[in-house]
This record gives sequence, C-alpha cells and structure tokens, in this order.
Amino acid sequence: MDPKAKKTALRGITYGLYLVGTKDDSGLNAFAGNWLTQTSFEPPMVALAAKAGTRSQQQIAASGVFSVNVLESGQKDMVTAFFRALEPEKNKLAGYEFETGETGCPLFKDALSWFECKVVEKVEKGDHFIYIGEVIDAGVHREGDPLTMKETGFYYGG
Ligand SMILES: Cc1cc2nc3c(=O)[nH]c(=O)nc-3n(C[C@H](O)[C@H](O)[C@H](O)COP(=O)(O)O)c2cc1C
Repeated sequence: MDPKAKKTALRGITYGLYLVGTKDDSGLNAFAGNWLTQTSFEPPMVALAAKAGTRSQQQIAASGVFSVNVLESGQKDMVTAFFRALEPEKNKLAGYEFETGETGCPLFKDALSWFECKVVEKVEKGDHFIYIGEVIDAGVHREGDPLTMKETGFYYGG
C-alpha cells in the first residue's frame, strides 16, 4: 500500500467534532473526538473510537457509559480546550459548565444538543477501541449548525 495514498484517501472521510463526556470512580472527564457515527435507527446506536490507554477510554471501559455533546459551528475555541487531560472544578471542565443526566457523564450547557449512551458492544483492536453505544437519552439546548472538522482545519485520521 502507498502510505501517501492511504493518508489522502482516509482523510477524505468527513467528520464532525464533538465533546465526548466520560466518568468513573475517579471523576468526570471530557475529550474532543471526531471518530463517531450513527450505526442504527432502532434501537438508536452510535460507534465511537477512543484512543487506547487514555483516561477517557479507560473510563468508558469501566463505566460502560458516555455522553456526546454536539457543538455549534464557531465553537472551535471550546473544542480546543478538550485536547488534553482535564480535572473538573465543581460543575465546570476547562471553564465550561455542565450538568449530568441519566449516565452521570457531562452534558455541556453551551452545546447545541447532547445524547447519552450505554455501551452495548466493544471492539478492543488497534490503537483506538470502538464502543457501540445505545442512545438512552437526548436533549436539545438550541437550534444551530453543528461544528465540523473542516471548519476547524484540524485533521485526526489518515
Ligand atoms: C482534531 C482532534 C480529534 C480527535 N479525535 C479523537 C477521537 O475521535 N477519539 C479519541 O480517542 N481521541 C481523539 N482525539 C484526541 C483526544 O482529544 C485526546 O487524546 C484527549 O486528551 C484525551 O483525553 P484524556 O487524556 O483525558 O483521556 C482527537 C484530537 C484532536 C486534536
């Protein structure tokens, strides 16, 4: 395989960029993730790839739950704050206020919308582990255009 062609072709996949909320006994956390897609209407399910060995991945493996926060176009600064490991201060992560719902994972007030997932299947292969989450609750804060990877200029893939 031509590595350059592989990189270019894989970078042709288009993505959104989301805040994935996690939790375990050590506390709450959230990270910026783009490797996310819906995989079923009924029951509603999504697949998420989480970098193996990160705190977030270990939290999803331990708790069996995660949340996804859909950000709005223009919220590049917000998503950028979640590229590194974080510790919550009261009800804030990286200065952004959140609430919790059914799963206990962070649901950010500034996001357009959110959904919460219960892990129903996993594939722990490669350098990211895949978690299939059944969507068990969802909410909408306001209407708007979702943040896309393209508008941020970031790449995570190839
Ligand atoms: C543009 C971009 C997209 C990313 N997408 C993912 C992703 O889909 N899955 C993932 O596990 N990490 C992804 N990351 C990396 C995480 O945001 C990063 O590893 C984060 O610090 C993990 O948090 P933790 O160390 O608290 O677990 C992405 C990073 C960037 C810059």
